[in-house]
Amino acid sequence: MALLEVNNLKKYFKEVKAVDGISFKVERGEVFGLLGPNGAGKSTTISMISTLFKPNEGDIKYKNVSIIDNPSAIQQKLGVVPQEIALYPTLSGYENLKFWGHAYGLRGKELSNRIEEVSEIIGIKDRLKDKIEKYSGGMKRRINIGAALLHNPEILIMDEPTVGIDPQSRNHILDTVLELNKKGMTIIYTSHYMEEVEYLCTRVSIMDKGNIIASGTQEELLEIVKGKKKINLRFDKISDNLIDRINSIDYIENVDVHDDEIILTTQNGEDIFKDLIAKSSETENSILSIDIKKPNLEAVFLHLTGRALRD
Ligand SMILES: Nc1ncnc2c1ncn2[C@@H]1O[C@H](COP(=O)(O)OP(=O)(O)OP(=O)(O)O)[C@@H](O)[C@H]1O
Ligand SMILES: [Mg+2]
Repeated sequence: MALLEVNNLKKYFKEVKAVDGISFKVERGEVFGLLGPNGAGKSTTISMISTLFKPNEGDIKYKNVSIIDNPSAIQQKLGVVPQEIALYPTLSGYENLKFWGHAYGLRGKELSNRIEEVSEIIGIKDRLKDKIEKYSGGMKRRINIGAALLHNPEILIMDEPTVGIDPQSRNHILDTVLELNKKGMTIIYTSHYMEEVEYLCTRVSIMDKGNIIASGTQEELLEIVKGKKKINLRFDKISDNLIDRINSIDYIENVDVHDDEIILTTQNGEDIFKDLIAKSSETENSILSIDIKKPNLEAVFLHLTGRALRD
């Protein structure tokens, strides 16, 4: 029996089909990833699992019991780190954690012990007395995560917990996720960062426009793009003329421009170099480097949707 089972879940906001019939299972002890671009429906899905929103259709079962009819079955078992930071800026980190602890019914010695333990986990002990308004974005995030951990939940749901923070806090958060998981916590992690999902997750569902377009272990998902190559090209500069000419190579499947790089995917490995060099020599731009990458989850997304995960 899966710990959590989502079945044909739908949530519409008027005509916006935020979540349009998704199904997935989360097994006990795994780090499950929901990967998808902005507006895919990740937060809406999480709001339904955390019983904030009722779905229009479908069911969510926690240990085989529907949480739609019986929300209290899951509420105490769940820790949710929302996408939007929810803290009182004029209170200290400690006071914020205390507030959330009270909300979970923790009091007295038990609460102060848990605040102690949790601030150790999130690595913020020495700043607990400072007001939140003095914190960096990364430190606020860590308190937000700490708040979700106070009642020692069985399942931790994290909604894009590393957006807009410094690399050090980001790495700390990623390693905290793995550490918590090692101690037995089941984790649902949503992100539009392919690298994070690759680093953390045992199984992944890729979401787009309210639907799950692929699910599986990372190896299973990479099977979808087997044989494809992802090629990164750097030029001294990139002109529209250059992009047009590369697009005119008929066996190239996707052409994406990121700053000074052109990223393309193709099955054909034989003629590609010759053709790329020929095409770029017809322009005023020169190639600085050609780098072949193994396909990753980004390539899976690109293959299935024709779009990049991040725009
Ligand atoms: N309360 C709401 N009222 C109306 N539309 C909503 C509401 N919440 C979400 N939506 C719409 O539903 C769709 C899915 O939104 P959702 O926030 O679930 O996506 P997401 O995958 O979390 O995106 P992001 O990466 O930007 O957080 C979007 O088109 C969004 O505009
Ligand atoms: Mg979201």
